[in-house]
Amino acid sequence: MKLMESFHGHALPETIRLMSRGEMKARVRSIKKELGSRLYMPGHYYQKDEVIQFADSTGDSLQLAETAAKNKEAEYIVFCGVHFMAETADILSASHQKVLLPDLRAGCSMADMATIRQVERGWTHLQDKLGDRILPITYVNSTAAIKAFCGENGGATVTSSNAARMLSWAFAQKEIVLFLPDQHLGRNTAYNLGIPLKHMAVWDPIQDYLEYDGNLNDIQIILWKGHCSVHEKFTTDNVSKFRQEYPDGNIIVHPECSFDVVQSADESGSTRKIIDVINKAPAGTKWAVGTEMNLVNRIAKQEDDKMVVSLNPNMCACLTMNRIDLPHLLWSLESILEGNPHHIITVDDKTKEKAEIALNRMFSRKI
Ligand code: 13P
Ligand code: SF4
Repeated sequence: MKLMESFHGHALPETIRLMSRGEMKARVRSIKKELGSRLYMPGHYYQKDEVIQFADSTGDSLQLAETAAKNKEAEYIVFCGVHFMAETADILSASHQKVLLPDLRAGCSMADMATIRQVERGWTHLQDKLGDRILPITYVNSTAAIKAFCGENGGATVTSSNAARMLSWAFAQKEIVLFLPDQHLGRNTAYNLGIPLKHMAVWDPIQDYLEYDGNLNDIQIILWKGHCSVHEKFTTDNVSKFRQEYPDGNIIVHPECSFDVVQSADESGSTRKIIDVINKAPAGTKWAVGTEMNLVNRIAKQEDDKMVVSLNPNMCACLTMNRIDLPHLLWSLESILEGNPHHIITVDDKTKEKAEIALNRMFSRKI
């Protein structure tokens, strides 16, 4: 019975399944017009073109969190992104606003690599080992409960756009930072701030084990053993092949890529930075990009006076981001019109309050 219900929760109604793409687009346009300012649709850069074309604002995680915090007018926020982004929008939205995620299966494999139980368990182990010297910092790609945990323990959230600024702040608060849940963003950012690899430990939440060879007193950052399953697909082998083929080419990657890939690239940065750097580059330049495929393809189309390719030629899009497609977007909008909005993302008040503290610590450090 449970299985039937959950399947039903994702099953598109026949009326939508039988529509042509053209009909769906026309219907989305018409519903958007009808709902006017009652509706607001933010979209992450990784979303498919068939969805992003209808977004009211597009951006990286930081920009979307900021816009979600600003819009207090819309009754319905239909979030074209993944679950943790919709949760953040709900935390930052006013009580009269409802946040909808067009497909509940749009999660994030990285966010799934840290559960609140694992974090609480790990925290106890780490405090036992290292004492009350640790500040928890979480990448926004994490559950609301983990954001709340950070808020409650003096910590904050970060995005890939402000990780360096936030980590500098964190090191001014406490001697050791616990960086959740992306070890790569944590390692790459800390290294750029001058922290040597030998002062970085890794916490394995499956084994409940601290991976570190040196003296515990030398640890400056503990990296949660999580990663992005999309960005881990870029390798140094991809870098060597591109350099061989295009010796005059440039490589730019997202800091969710591994340390070796980031070190061997020419530049690294958030999706916003990747877009800006390529946009400002002279015509005729060649770029290999290490990030999600929908965005790489879009940049390649927009920057048609430059050569823009994926650093990994066999790359796929982020599967969970891709769950949000035109039919599910339309279904979500129809549910609003019918007065029965579905797939509403709600964070409970207690979690919201603490998670907001962590988010506000980030917003108040000028980004
Ligand atoms: P940014 O939006 O911060 O660049 O992060 C990319 C990402 O993986 C979002 O899930
Ligand atoms: Fe999560 Fe990676 Fe997909 Fe971003 S690209 S939503 S971090 S799995």
